[in-house]
Amino acid sequence: MSLDPYIDMRGKYVMRGIALYHPITVERGENAVLYDVNGRRYVDFTSGVGVTTLGHANPELVRAAEEQLRRLWHICFMVANYRPYVELAERLAKIAPGPSEKQVLLQNSGSEATENAIKIARQVTGKTVVVSYENSFHGRGTYGFALAATGKYKPYKVGLEPMMPGIEFIPYPYCYRCPFKHEYPQCSLACLDYVRKWFTYTRVPPERIAAFIMEMIQGEGGFVVAPVDYVRELKKFLDEHGILLIDDEVQSGWARTGRMWAVEHYGVEPDVMITAKAIANGLPLSAIVSKKEIVDKTYPGSFGGTYGGNPVSCAVALKVIEIMLRDKLPERAMSLGQVVRKRLNEMFERHELVGDVRGLGVMQAIELVKDRKTKEPATDEASKVLSKAREKGLLLLRAGIHLNVVRLLPPLTIEEELLNEGLDILEESLKEVEVK
Ligand SMILES: Cc1ncc(COP(=O)(O)O)c(C=O)c1O
Repeated sequence: MSLDPYIDMRGKYVMRGIALYHPITVERGENAVLYDVNGRRYVDFTSGVGVTTLGHANPELVRAAEEQLRRLWHICFMVANYRPYVELAERLAKIAPGPSEKQVLLQNSGSEATENAIKIARQVTGKTVVVSYENSFHGRGTYGFALAATGKYKPYKVGLEPMMPGIEFIPYPYCYRCPFKHEYPQCSLACLDYVRKWFTYTRVPPERIAAFIMEMIQGEGGFVVAPVDYVRELKKFLDEHGILLIDDEVQSGWARTGRMWAVEHYGVEPDVMITAKAIANGLPLSAIVSKKEIVDKTYPGSFGGTYGGNPVSCAVALKVIEIMLRDKLPERAMSLGQVVRKRLNEMFERHELVGDVRGLGVMQAIELVKDRKTKEPATDEASKVLSKAREKGLLLLRAGIHLNVVRLLPPLTIEEELLNEGLDILEESLKEVEVK
């Protein structure tokens, strides 16, 4: 009999298609700390993949959920109107990036948000092709555009072809591993030249392209930050050709980068923005926020779903926004990010295994390599760092096309002492893995 019978139960009754990072069964959480069924304590640097940004069991959010549960927990937004949906739509329209008037559609997951953003782009522009990025992630919860637009084959697409047609891929400006082997900024954005000149002429001309879908900071791709000039130049090019920019903020949104939305670091206004994850701190909810002039052209009745915009999720999301603005969470993410970045830079100085340190705000990561010159990915080592850290009481996540990036996603409400405790464990784990 194992110490954790629920892991055995999972093996027996749950389909193996869903992976497990950490073979522990968590019982409860308190802000940035989790406890497993055996009472072991863990510092949580995962936030359930960037979701519980205001901490586990946040008392204000619990209260907001309880009050709404007692009042109304479902009616379906297509059956009758209800306040939390429209109030949240109003708040989201107001805090969305850029000056244009916005409108909102609510769904349940990031994958559904991707599907709907691409539906909007196709329906409104009358064009079919969507351009996505290599190394991107836009969801595997659905079998349509979200999966098709995801720029990583294994494990997401294995045995699932054919994908939804109409998606084209281009290289992401991943400067640490430049696909054109250039150095930024001396490269003069060669990757964008490729998009402008060659991609559009040899693959699909701009007049056939409905939208580009882009993460300003690739999440699953390993916290790869696009250069500011790349995004600005790209947006100009898209505007010249009437191509929409869909900004995927599912992982990077909600204050984590030091701004409410990652795209705010770039000074461009996306045409459509999608968000999910931290929006309701873990209750299922996602949002598509679009310039009104665009969605004014959508066809009534062609969007919707039974559950999209659940009243309890909406009530919690309203409270999330209130807390984030009241407690200045973007500023806090920035100051926590400075603590994290300093420590990660020190780890870079002390440990050859760390090849790159990158991120924005507190959305920070280290990319592990076997050799700093060849940049050979240290995939096994990253896996060992995660195991060692867990043994010492810290939960981390990996990311990146080679799964050699250790990404940090602590809640923004984490106490500084706990943040440092987690960072100490990360460094000890790196040290131990390096010695072997
Ligand atoms: C950038 C991005 N887009 C979309 C998704 C899909 O979201 P969901 O898992 O809620 O379907 C994710 C999930 O990790 C994501 O990181």
